[in-house]
Amino acid sequence: MAVEYGSAADSAYQPAPARYDVAIIEPDGRRRLRLGTALATAAQFDAVEELVQALRPGRPVVAVFGPGLAAPYGFQQVNRLIASYPDLGVIFAVDEVSTPLLQAAIRAGARDTVAVNDPVALAQSVQRVGELLAGTASRVPATTPARAAAGQLITVFSAKGGVGKSTVAINVAVAMAHRSVDRVALVDADLSFGDVAVLLGLPPQHTILDAISAAQYGDIELVRSMLVPHPTSGLLVLPAPTEPLLGGGVAPNDVVSVCQALQGMCGFVVVDLPSQLDDYAAALIEAADTVLLVGGMDIPSVKNLRIGMQVLDLGALAGPKLRLVLNRSNTQVKLDVREIEQVLGLRADFPIPADIAVPISVNAGVPVVEHDPRSSASRALDRIAVSLLGPELAGGKRRRRGKRDRGALR
Ligand SMILES: Nc1ncnc2c1ncn2[C@@H]1O[C@H](COP(=O)(O)OP(=O)(O)OP(=O)(O)O)[C@@H](O)[C@H]1O
Ligand SMILES: [Mg+2]
Repeated sequence: MAVEYGSAADSAYQPAPARYDVAIIEPDGRRRLRLGTALATAAQFDAVEELVQALRPGRPVVAVFGPGLAAPYGFQQVNRLIASYPDLGVIFAVDEVSTPLLQAAIRAGARDTVAVNDPVALAQSVQRVGELLAGTASRVPATTPARAAAGQLITVFSAKGGVGKSTVAINVAVAMAHRSVDRVALVDADLSFGDVAVLLGLPPQHTILDAISAAQYGDIELVRSMLVPHPTSGLLVLPAPTEPLLGGGVAPNDVVSVCQALQGMCGFVVVDLPSQLDDYAAALIEAADTVLLVGGMDIPSVKNLRIGMQVLDLGALAGPKLRLVLNRSNTQVKLDVREIEQVLGLRADFPIPADIAVPISVNAGVPVVEHDPRSSASRALDRIAVSLLGPELAGGKRRRRGKRDRGALR
């Protein structure tokens, strides 16, 4: 079919610079026309084959696939096309952005998915993808990215489930977000049973799986757009998949790449890890600047911690980066803190008392440091945040920044 052009009259779209072309592919004539009014100078095609004939090697093209192609056929076409045309960047313009659609599109290799009735978002997306293709935007390499910036990576790990990893990760991250002038991100890297979004009462629009695909494409802006802001603290959250991801499919370095992309835009990135002692944990522990090792006061917990340290060779892997968090440290058990320190060969840097305020806050769906900041657990968790921020950064936001600014992405 012949190439058509839309009308520039009511377009939110700035004509593409000569550095890349824009194309619309949509079988339905009316819908194609509607897209054409949003992207005035874009070439229009009714079928993928027509687009293929118009592609020139080495010439970047942003292809906007219309709602008629947001289906298995369209995803397959995109998957096939981008393997052959590395200079092609695909955006799906869909009737309604849903998590399954977004995941299917990103897995097919699309750069973005936007609502067809949001011409401004569509225009911005086209521009961003076009600039990225033309090599003008920031990139992270597809594999083992170099350290992009100075943001610190803090992983929270334990060798046994249920000892309080997520409690520590969430509350320390929230306390840091309240105190820091820098952005703070929290990544739920527990791909099977991650519950950070639920505990923070956040809708998991995007998950770490989407961010992994975006980081593989080197699209930092897309990774950034997937963070869900926690309204009261401004913490930027990357939730775990909504369905348990059992049996792998994610390489250890995939999550490290996402964290490193986030380190490029945040001062601190806190990662809640699953309690498995595997390559996945090892990669994130190795990449970390600080490892918060969470243990309980009971004998099985200390034994598991000891075994975990040996299995992962934590001493060699993390060495001075290790900080021991002893949760429920006031529990009346046969072990005392000193004995545990001796068994583990580590100083208990951060004791956190057992505190009824913790489960109460969970039931309220609010982190305990916000729900009951004066509780003994909150004060202990806040001390960890202050220590990680360093005395100069801690409290900076309270002095310099109002609540309304929190979490606003520059
Ligand atoms: N200091 C504390 N005082 C009282 N209750 C606590 C404390 N720390 C954690 N809890 C409670 O213990 C339970 C387990 O905590 P949490 O979910 O943080 O553990 P986890 O290590 O992340 O578990 P999982 O291995 O399932 O991810 C939760 O119900 C939490 O509210
Ligand atoms: Mg957890």
